[in-house]
Amino acid sequence: MNKSRSLKTEILLRLAIPLIFFMSIETVLSYFVTLHHVNVAYDRWLLDSARSLTEGIKMHEGTVFVELPPAALDIFKWDELDQTYFKIISEEKGMLAGDKFVPEPLTQAMNGVSPIYFNDDMYGEPVRVVSILIANGTQEKIFVHVAETLNKRRGMMMDILLADLIPQVVLVLLIGLYLLAGVKRGLQPLRVLADEIAQRTPRDLRPIPEQHVFLEVRALTDTINDLLERLAQAIVTQERFITNAAHQLRTPLAGLKLQAERALREQDVTAMKPALIHIQSCADRMSHLTTQLLILARSEPINGGYELRQLDLCALAKNTCMDWVPKALQRQMDLSFEGFEQPLYVQGDEVLLRELLANLLDNAICYGRDQGNIVVKVERHPVPRLIVEDDGPGIPDIETDRVFERFYRIPGSSGDGCGLGLAIVKEIADLHQARLELSSADETGGTRFELSFEAKQNVLDMLN
Ligand SMILES: Nc1ncnc2c1ncn2[C@@H]1O[C@H](COP(=O)(O)OP(=O)(O)OP(=O)(O)O)[C@@H](O)[C@H]1O
Ligand SMILES: [Mg+2]
Repeated sequence: MNKSRSLKTEILLRLAIPLIFFMSIETVLSYFVTLHHVNVAYDRWLLDSARSLTEGIKMHEGTVFVELPPAALDIFKWDELDQTYFKIISEEKGMLAGDKFVPEPLTQAMNGVSPIYFNDDMYGEPVRVVSILIANGTQEKIFVHVAETLNKRRGMMMDILLADLIPQVVLVLLIGLYLLAGVKRGLQPLRVLADEIAQRTPRDLRPIPEQHVFLEVRALTDTINDLLERLAQAIVTQERFITNAAHQLRTPLAGLKLQAERALREQDVTAMKPALIHIQSCADRMSHLTTQLLILARSEPINGGYELRQLDLCALAKNTCMDWVPKALQRQMDLSFEGFEQPLYVQGDEVLLRELLANLLDNAICYGRDQGNIVVKVERHPVPRLIVEDDGPGIPDIETDRVFERFYRIPGSSGDGCGLGLAIVKEIADLHQARLELSSADETGGTRFELSFEAKQNVLDMLN
């Protein structure tokens, strides 16, 4: 339903269409039932009239004749609403009395003793006719046909149908009005709620009060409340993040300013050099921090700056390792890769997964031991896994949770990192619904990070 329609109209339509449909069926049915009963009742009278005429059929010396006194005829014809006509016919002699235009049924139908009723036209008007066969003791067949216009029957039909229909229509109207009033009353709390929410300031993310809300609407308010809660949390996190980021950027900026002033004070270029080296390292730090912040922003689900598609985890890990070999060599470290030639497909964002591995390698090189070993492994079973292991001092158990916090660095850590690397790793892992585990390497006691892709991602692997 793309066009929004009011609930009241919806209810009215849903109620009115079937009701009108069923009422029409009911009316048609009751028309036929009423017609049947009205005919049964008036046909009996019509038959009585026909029988009353038989008294005027006489026999004299074997000849049949009709003798109807005017008074008897008056009684026969007397009717306020309808015209009544008759015709008495002898099979042998033909017309004996009455009006020759009175319709007759087919003669074959007239063999039985029971009367025959049928509808026909007479003088351009519809009539109901009854025909009876009289046995007068001779072989001669005498037929009496009586026709009557339909005014009484129509009147009676109308009365019965209206008596049936009017209460039904009134009842339907009353039910409709009652339902509309009910819907209006039922929706009132929602209107109050909408007014209440409309008056809020953008920072007012309190949950919607649910005490006056109907159970059916509660599913909706629950969802909105849930969303409001998450939104409030996201805003708090964002605010904290911005404060931290600003703080982190201020330090190298202050360093830059200080060193620039120092350099400016020096006359001699050689004397400026230490300050310039400092400026360079401050700029490096700022550029690193800015890069980390941008990656973090990109890996936040709320920003949607990623695209998951099928990629070969093996190739990705191998290529990234190759990029980091020169940096490992600077510390005389041995960076090795253990994987396989066949592709191992997972659903992922290539840039973000590279960043994840880059941060783990950067840490391993930065915090591992000189001339140490770093191993990157890709495993296929039971689920696709990426493992980065070093033989450095490792991360103490009490720090294993905190190291994933944004801007947290273990006190006394070497290098000038900004404490965002592992937060980025965690964020990217979550985005891929992958499980991230930090433990200590079995043999060396160094650090081991393991990223396992969920079983549902495995389906792709099996298909390939
Ligand atoms: N492989 C590792 N071995 C030992 N300690 C580690 C290792 N990886 C991380 N750590 C510790 O965890 C802390 C957090 O690491 P993280 O990568 O989040 O921040 P960082 O390296 O200080 O800064 P950034 O990576 O943003 O430049 C580091 O300060 C370091 O003390
Ligand atoms: Mg780091």
